[in-house]
Amino acid sequence: MRILTYLRIMNIKNSAEFIALENQYGAHNYHPLPVVLHKGEGIFVWDVEDKKYFDFLSAYSAVNQGHCHPKIIEALNVQSRKLTLTSRAFHNDQLGPFEQYITDLLGYDRVLPMNTGVEGGETAVKLARKWGYTVKGIPSNQAKVIFASGNFWGRTIAAISTSQDEDSYADFGPFVPGFEIVEYNNIQALEQAFQDSNVAAFMVEPIQGEAGVIMPSDDYLKQVRALCTKYNVLWIADEVQTGLGRTGAMLCCDHAQVKPDILILGKALGGGVFPVSAVLASNEVMGVLHPGQHGSTFGGNPLACAVATAALKVLVDESLPQNASEMGELFRKGLKEINSPIVKTVRGKGLLNAIDIEPFGNGKTAYDVCIALKSNGLLAKQTHTHTIRFAPPLTINAGQIEEALQIINFSILEIAK
Ligand SMILES: Cc1ncc(COP(=O)(O)O)c(C=O)c1O
Repeated sequence: MRILTYLRIMNIKNSAEFIALENQYGAHNYHPLPVVLHKGEGIFVWDVEDKKYFDFLSAYSAVNQGHCHPKIIEALNVQSRKLTLTSRAFHNDQLGPFEQYITDLLGYDRVLPMNTGVEGGETAVKLARKWGYTVKGIPSNQAKVIFASGNFWGRTIAAISTSQDEDSYADFGPFVPGFEIVEYNNIQALEQAFQDSNVAAFMVEPIQGEAGVIMPSDDYLKQVRALCTKYNVLWIADEVQTGLGRTGAMLCCDHAQVKPDILILGKALGGGVFPVSAVLASNEVMGVLHPGQHGSTFGGNPLACAVATAALKVLVDESLPQNASEMGELFRKGLKEINSPIVKTVRGKGLLNAIDIEPFGNGKTAYDVCIALKSNGLLAKQTHTHTIRFAPPLTINAGQIEEALQIINFSILEIAK
């Protein structure tokens, strides 16, 4: 009571008051956990009452380098005092060095910087269509792009045109034509779809994050690569969520030692501080674009380039993909040891993991588990009714993994009572 009075006198708001403001003045397009954060450092975040939490969501894998990484913040600060935005009407002294660094690092000829992940997807689709007409020889306006069932690549009209999630697409039509869905992880279905010579590209996530960390069979990506080559179809890998160390390799496709024709990155490319996305491709594919045919006012801005370069260097210098691989093993081992019949499956790669919870007899769902986790000091988010994704920053260490596992164990046992 005394604390509340103090907060009121000082005009400091508590969590409930901040939530009330959002409820009253904001669009209700999200259903966040009831926690109001005001500070982050490394793998931890603090709410406005100064309670500390493990962050096991990492802003949907956008904070791979940890919150407010000093080197990324330094790059942001230094660049923000010099030059932040030029548009692409002019050159700037950050874009070229960023382009050189990211293409060298990931082994592509060229990069096209955008801002959000979904813009990366849109860019990839445009590139593929144009390549289809100007290189492959598909008749005008006939190009098809194939997507995998269960895909998620954002919220624009094009992205929801490929969605099978009713919440995403219902009442937002009409949708973009020229898109088709084949079953994820079904190579025969893909080959069948490729019989149509108007197919320009196949876009797929190497592991489907939003669908609930759904992993294909071990040889799927290799077979996708082979089929795309055989049928002269561009393979677009959406590594917005799986890329940049998250799954224990710099790119998730690296596990299968395959290289997509078009690679989409986002999220952690901005180091958790700034929206930066990028599309990488060969000279042949990127060469189809000419001035005036695609762009973005903010894409390639000097602040984004400085931040993204620093974000990539942190991943490399701190061997974060390697750490993700090791900590992921430890984490899954611990999850599998949780002694509760309600934990149905544990799966994941690196630090992109999920558990499926057996529907509770007491009517509780994964959301209730997330509420229990929150009370015990760990933030995670359910995807669908019975799946919880666990994706901490890649800077986490073994001691912290053990501590987090104790919280998860305790919360699950507590809620299943
Ligand atoms: C695989 C994948 N692609 C694209 C996106 C869209 O990214 P953004 O929200 O930055 O537009 C997401 C976002 O969750 C994603 O998981």
